[in-house]
Formats: sequence, C-alpha cells, structure tokens
Amino acid sequence: MQVDIITLFPSMFKGFLEESIIKRAQDKGILRVNLHNLRQFTHNRHKTVDDLPFGGGGGMVIKPEPLFEAVENIVGGRVKSTPHIILLSPQGTSLNQEKIKELASKDNLLLICGHYEGVDERVKEHLIDEEISIGDYVLTGGELAAMVLIDAVTRIIPGVLGSENSVREDSFYDILLDYPQYTRPAIFRGWKVPEVLLSGNHQKINYWRKRKKIEVTLKKRPDLLKKVKLKQEDKQKQD
Ligand code: ADE
Repeated sequence: MQVDIITLFPSMFKGFLEESIIKRAQDKGILRVNLHNLRQFTHNRHKTVDDLPFGGGGGMVIKPEPLFEAVENIVGGRVKSTPHIILLSPQGTSLNQEKIKELASKDNLLLICGHYEGVDERVKEHLIDEEISIGDYVLTGGELAAMVLIDAVTRIIPGVLGSENSVREDSFYDILLDYPQYTRPAIFRGWKVPEVLLSGNHQKINYWRKRKKIEVTLKKRPDLLKKVKLKQEDKQKQD
C-alpha cells in the first residue's frame, strides 16, 4: 500500500515511521509512505497556507489553492491507480475497525491533515472522497489522527504481523472486546492466573475466552453488544 500525506508538519511523522511494525512493513515493501509539505505548494514569499475566515470569527482557515495544487501534483504523476483521498478532521465520520478493514483493501491512500480552524469548505466538497475523525475530541491538527489511521490499517495488511491469528483475535475484529490475557508468573503478589488457562485443555480455554469476551464487553462497552444483536437479527432476516 502506498500512503501519501499532505501536512504542515512532516517531521511529526519521523519517529512513528521509523519504529516497530510500521518500520517493518516499510522494510518488507508492504507499506510506502510519502510526506508532502503543504508549504511547497504555495507561491508567495511567506509561503502562506491560511487566511482569515469570511464572515469573521476567530482562527485561520487553510486556503483551497495549495491543497488542490498538492493533490493534483501528487495524483497527476500516477499512471495506474488514483488514491482514495481522506481529510482528517473532527467533523468527519468516526473511525472504527470496520472502516479500517475497508481502507486496508485499498492500494493507495492520500491523507490530508487539517489544521487551525479548519479547511476551506470547497476542499471538502470538491477534492476529497471522505472526511474522517478519530474521536469526539479536538486535536491541534490531523497529524496524530493520520498516524492512528495508518497504524491501524497497516497492522491488518496480510504479511505485516507475524501471525494472522493476532489480527483475528483482536478486540473489535468480531465486534466484541478481547478476553483477558495473562503471562508468567502464574502467581504475582498473591494474585493468581485463572486455573483454566493453566489446564492445557484447549476446549475449556476457548469456552472460557468466549464467555470472557461477552462479560468484558457487557461491563465496558454494552453498546457493542447491541451492535452484535442487530447484526445477528440482520443475518437471520437474510437467511
Ligand atoms: N483534527 C483535529 N481533531 C481531530 C480528530 N478528532 N480526528 C481527526 N482529525 C482531527
């Protein structure tokens, strides 16, 4: 997968791209990331990318010209595939594992990191394919959101993680949260690992894990269980 990122702060991505699984995915040739500094696409002495909002009010708005020019420049050089263009912004639709799976199937993503009070509305109307938010809170810019999206997408691309199992067993893969995990020692400060996990009986262990997934989800995210119920009802209607 190729990911192009348009940002005012390319150096924010440095550590992220040079560590752990994201680094490995690039080394394996599964992921390629190109950073584009939005200021490169300005034509004035001060490399201005923003301006005051029409109608007044506080803050600055990112101008349409450098964003359109950046996208056209990046896409113009492509012969084969056109990228799926995403604007990261708190006004977008909420990112979840279902959307991550959909994005992981694409060959090419182009992420635009918003900043300041936002971007000119004509960018949203005429340049991008979709607007995504990583949660109901406001960050200073879209860079951290872009990193969250890339991280979640990359780790589910086949061949990136060592074992396909670890993706299949993730929280949210089947909507429910994951079961509790334990490692050695079997007793730590008097707190014991559940007996069943030491039993070696895999049928019993699987049953315990399935029950725990429901129990944990019921306790922490009851809204997800409602989703499972709706999905099951949907499936029954189709059958
Ligand atoms: N930019 C600022 N806040 C954001 C959010 N919650 N999600 C995506 N991009 C953002």
